[in-house]
Amino acid sequence: MRLAIKRNLSPLLVCLIIFNASVAFAQKSVRANRQSATVEQKINFLLARMTLAEKLGQLQQLDGESDGRFRPEHLELARKGLLGSTLNVRGVKQTNELQRVAVEQSRLKIPILFGFDVIHGYRTLFPIPLGETASWDLQAAEKSAHIAAQEARSAGVHWTFAPMVDIARDPRWGRIMESAGEDAFLGAAMAKARVQGFQGGDYSQIDRVMACAKHFAAYGAAEGGRDYNTVDMSERTLREVYLPPFEAAKNAGAGSFMTSFNTLNGVPATANSFLLRQILRSEWKFDGLVVSDYTSVAELIKHGVARDGSEAAQISLNAGTDMEMVSRFYNQSGAELVKSGKVSIKTINDAVRNVLRVKFRLGLFERPYADENLEKNTIKKPEFLQTAREIAAKSFVLLKNEKETLPINKNVRKIAVIGALADDKANTLDWWAGDAKAEDSVTILQGIREKVAALPTKIRFEKGCELNCDSEKDFGKAVDAAKDSDFTIIVAGETRDISGEAASRTNLDLPGKQLDLIKVIHQTGKPYAVVLKNGRPLTINWLAENSPAILETWHSGTMGGAAIADVLFGDVNPSGKLPVTFPRNVGQIPLFYNALPTGRPLETENRYTSKYIDSPNTPLYPFGFGLSYTQFKIDNLRLDKTQIKRNENVKISVDVENVGKRDGVEVVQLYVRDLVASVSRPVKELKGFRRISLRAGEKRTVEMTLTPKDLSFLNQKLQPTNEDGDFQVFVGNSSEGGLEGTFKVGQTAVAEKKN
Ligand code: NOJ
Repeated sequence: MRLAIKRNLSPLLVCLIIFNASVAFAQKSVRANRQSATVEQKINFLLARMTLAEKLGQLQQLDGESDGRFRPEHLELARKGLLGSTLNVRGVKQTNELQRVAVEQSRLKIPILFGFDVIHGYRTLFPIPLGETASWDLQAAEKSAHIAAQEARSAGVHWTFAPMVDIARDPRWGRIMESAGEDAFLGAAMAKARVQGFQGGDYSQIDRVMACAKHFAAYGAAEGGRDYNTVDMSERTLREVYLPPFEAAKNAGAGSFMTSFNTLNGVPATANSFLLRQILRSEWKFDGLVVSDYTSVAELIKHGVARDGSEAAQISLNAGTDMEMVSRFYNQSGAELVKSGKVSIKTINDAVRNVLRVKFRLGLFERPYADENLEKNTIKKPEFLQTAREIAAKSFVLLKNEKETLPINKNVRKIAVIGALADDKANTLDWWAGDAKAEDSVTILQGIREKVAALPTKIRFEKGCELNCDSEKDFGKAVDAAKDSDFTIIVAGETRDISGEAASRTNLDLPGKQLDLIKVIHQTGKPYAVVLKNGRPLTINWLAENSPAILETWHSGTMGGAAIADVLFGDVNPSGKLPVTFPRNVGQIPLFYNALPTGRPLETENRYTSKYIDSPNTPLYPFGFGLSYTQFKIDNLRLDKTQIKRNENVKISVDVENVGKRDGVEVVQLYVRDLVASVSRPVKELKGFRRISLRAGEKRTVEMTLTPKDLSFLNQKLQPTNEDGDFQVFVGNSSEGGLEGTFKVGQTAVAEKKN
């Protein structure tokens, strides 16, 4: 038989038969192999069988249509095994259809990895990450990420490009909305919570997705707050401020990292082997996947570090960027680069290995398809919406509340609601809205109407001006409404398009004539509260000085309007604390609480000290600040030791009492200052916090522990170190003020404690 074949068939046909037989054998053994071997063995098995083109195909991520559909060419690439991943393709029908081609028609049946920006929810939107961070509630952050993961995975999405863990100290930068704010400690805690929420202990589970810590690194420090701009920073600041949330994400098991658009000290992050090879792989031992940002490989040409696409591919592959998002230079030039020795086959294999490893970890080889029935039963479950409402309410920060203006008494019979943002469905979404639909969400006006539905209260709504508020022509109607009401709620802030990516601002005032609108309402002399809806700190000095009440509600997601009504009418007591400083003016930026001391600290009477001649140094609202409808007394600071050795802990406790008339939640914050060290240390650093719920009149003791790690810092050689010396602690409910105590690290002298 064998001879007969050989005699009767052309050599080409023989080759084809042998090839097909060996592919069939390989496929059979691929299947068998998948069942028993370890992940690394399985990867080796595949790598040994992949052509260079197929390897490069695994390193390619292509964009789908914005509505979630794949593009026609994806089918062809998937069939040839040349499409490792997509972004934006979503929905169980779309993902399964494309996956079927990869898994059933490609030679090696390697499944496609479907990625999507599930930033703060998939279909059920939670508050923007900056807002959610204002809750200081790690369980809430974990829960919202888990819900987002459940919805996304049910829709065929395996991989979210979140959490964004960039430290953001510059409110001009629109993407501050996507961050956890300015602080490394809070940022690291949130990064960990969010990674755990997305991934759980095992992201192959059908209610989990793989997380992506982004943007590695220092993207938030773009010069001038202008998106995509250059970053120049010391290695100390990088390591002490910008990297801790990334390291926390890695330690929490984040499956992937995304490079950032910016250059860091002259080297674009996508081609930065110091970041990707030295820090991420060598120091942190990360073994997951590194993806570029959108066309950031191609942008190496415009950065002026690559002559053409081939050089861009060469330097980013060699630097350790495994997968190329959208641009296609790895595929176009990879073979030539390997042939010429500019990129070694080992480098390619390592990158492919990282891609395949996460595909195995995601369980894609065993379960490449999403369950056709799960999506519709998972999306927008009532309990998800309820959780979104609760978390939104926790994210609001009461910035001012003169004479208990808020909450609104439910006996008030006539309420005016002013401001176009109060009832604009499209603006219930924000820059990152996942797969959310505006029609699903509750506007503020709707929330208020629902709240008073059973009461005889009359609500009158007037926009006052359109969303951009460039005309005063309807101010009169708003004034009439306010005059004719017992209480007015003015909603002001930013529309979704002026916050988020590519939305840097040089002016942080309320856009358009919104402040003028507030002023004319103010002149009526009637009581009112301002509800802010925005993605970044705004310069709101006039409001801070004149308005009776200000509630910061951020962009608060699908149930934001209902949650705002819950807080305005006192069904929920606000408990949020600012995760970022609110400056008085743009000239103060960057302004953050944990700055270094200067050699000439501010003295008002002394010209030659560090200050502005036209503005105070202090912020309008400091990091950690936020009021409640009740009052808390924090006292009786105790340290279990006032002298410790370098390797010992110190326990700090305070009594916290709700001395007001309502139940409430307080966030007790612990800050530390290393008074004298071999390098200058910040005036304060957050090192602990507790969110505690206290009934009216209730008192509890809160204990927090400072560990040697909390007291360590990088010495002049940038090595982590603990030094002897005096430390100051501050415990309070904001980064300003608080109870003070001291302790000593070392063998001598006992430090005093001060209340
Ligand atoms: C560009 C953004 O910088 C990044 O955060 C996002 O994940 C990608 N686009 C994909 O949408």
